[in-house]
Amino acid sequence: MNVNIYPDYDDLCIETASYIAKRINSYNPTKENPFVLGLPTGSSPIGVYNELAALCREGEISFKNVVTFNMDEYIGLPAGHPQSYRYFMETYLFKYVDIPAENINFLNGTAIDLQQECIDYENRIQELGGIELFMGGIGVNAHIAFNEPGSGRDSKTRVIDLAEETIVANSRFFEGELDKVPTKALSVGIKTIMDAKEVILIVNGQNKATALQKIIEEAVNESWPGSILQLHKQGRIVCDLDATQNLKQETVEKYTM
Ligand code: GLP
Repeated sequence: MNVNIYPDYDDLCIETASYIAKRINSYNPTKENPFVLGLPTGSSPIGVYNELAALCREGEISFKNVVTFNMDEYIGLPAGHPQSYRYFMETYLFKYVDIPAENINFLNGTAIDLQQECIDYENRIQELGGIELFMGGIGVNAHIAFNEPGSGRDSKTRVIDLAEETIVANSRFFEGELDKVPTKALSVGIKTIMDAKEVILIVNGQNKATALQKIIEEAVNESWPGSILQLHKQGRIVCDLDATQNLKQETVEKYTM
């Protein structure tokens, strides 16, 4: 696992978006052999999405032959709900880029058969040959997608009971009211993420300082799910200085860009 510490969030986003653009361009995707990109929601990736939209507008990148799979979705929120992750992705990325609607894959949190929905999602990923690059964020408890502490490394796409700290953290998007936050979600599993050829996790802001320290400086531990990335050959954490305040000085020096 590699770690890149950027002076601030803007640098992190510019560099990460430019890297993703380079990866897509050098892959030379076609309709028959698309670039398969895994994507997160949350506030962490918004700056990267802004940069990707700008690169697309400037003709530096095209999403015509990119197929996306989002990591997770709340159960019970329809696609048009302002807090659904589908709505989030339309708002921050999809409406600004040239991705064909049929290339966008999402877990349907209102599916009647949620188990089947999860099986179908895994199958769709397999049919396309797996995920080339999975971008993610982490929660304050270091969850990745919605894989809460205790998620096993063999876990696949499934129904998840959200942890109390996740419900509290995400209530900021639901007018601060805990009762409005769904208590369950669909999420790709730890294995689904680890099976991607490359994984990049964005960690920014002081509120992620504890999580970042646990996943970088301590051993792989199910209590801090993001730590699993230490075992990925092409795993990388991109973070800003604000998130590094609990790291040892030597760790910061080692990874500062
Ligand atoms: C949610 C998402 C995660 C995301 C996390 C962090 O819980 N399911 O995929 O990484 O939030 O969100 P933020 O970037 O807003 O801190």
